[in-house]
Amino acid sequence: MSIRLGDEAPDFTIDTTDGEISFHDWKGSSWAVLFSHPKDYTPVCTTELGTVAKLKPEWDKRDVKVIGLSVDGLADHAGWNKDIEETQGQGLNFPLIADPDHKVSDLYDMIHPNANDTLTVRSVFIIGPDNKVKLILTYPASTGRNFDEILRVIDSLQLTANHKVATPANWKDGEDVIIAPAISDDEAKEIYPAGFRTLKPYLRYVAQPG
Ligand code: BEZ
Repeated sequence: MSIRLGDEAPDFTIDTTDGEISFHDWKGSSWAVLFSHPKDYTPVCTTELGTVAKLKPEWDKRDVKVIGLSVDGLADHAGWNKDIEETQGQGLNFPLIADPDHKVSDLYDMIHPNANDTLTVRSVFIIGPDNKVKLILTYPASTGRNFDEILRVIDSLQLTANHKVATPANWKDGEDVIIAPAISDDEAKEIYPAGFRTLKPYLRYVAQPG
C-alpha cells in the first residue's frame, strides 16, 4: 500500500549501523528524514551520504533526525562507510538501515519495479513530530538529491505548522511569506498590525513571522 501525505509513518524495528532501532521510539517527538539509496558502493549514494553527514549542524538546529536506508547488509555498510569517510571527508554520523530483506523498503514502497525490481529508488520521507508524513520525494537512481532543498522544505514545514502562512516559489528562510487564503483581511490586520501587501485579494505578502 502506498503512503500518502498526512498518513502515519509506518513503524518498524530494524538493524542499522547504530544498532537495532525501533523507528517511532528512536524518532521521539523530533522531525525525521528517512531516505533510501539504491545500493552500497555506488558513486552518487557515496556523495549523498557524505553531504547529509556534513549537514549535521543544520539537522540539529531544526531538531531533525536523519536515517538512511540501503538494501545491503551491515558488513557492506561498514566497509562502504570507510570509503565515504575517505572520499567525502566525513563518514556516517547518523544510522544507515540494513535492509537486505526489503522489510522497510516494501513498507515504504521504495522499490519501483518498472525502474528496477530489486533496488530501492531515491525516496525521501519527511515526518513530523506527530509521526505524520509531511513530504514525499522520489528521484531516479541517476540523480543525486539536493539536500539544501530538503532543509528549505523543512524550514517551510516548520514555519507553516506554527503560523497561518504559506511560502511562495523558491522561498528561503527569512523572506516574505503569503498569508493563508483562509485568513480574512480583518483577521490578517489583527495578526499582522505592522501591515501586509495585497497584490490580489488572494495574494497577500507579509514579513516572515516568528
Ligand atoms: C549511484 O548511486 O551512483 C547509482 C546507483 C544505482 C544506479 C546508478 C547510480
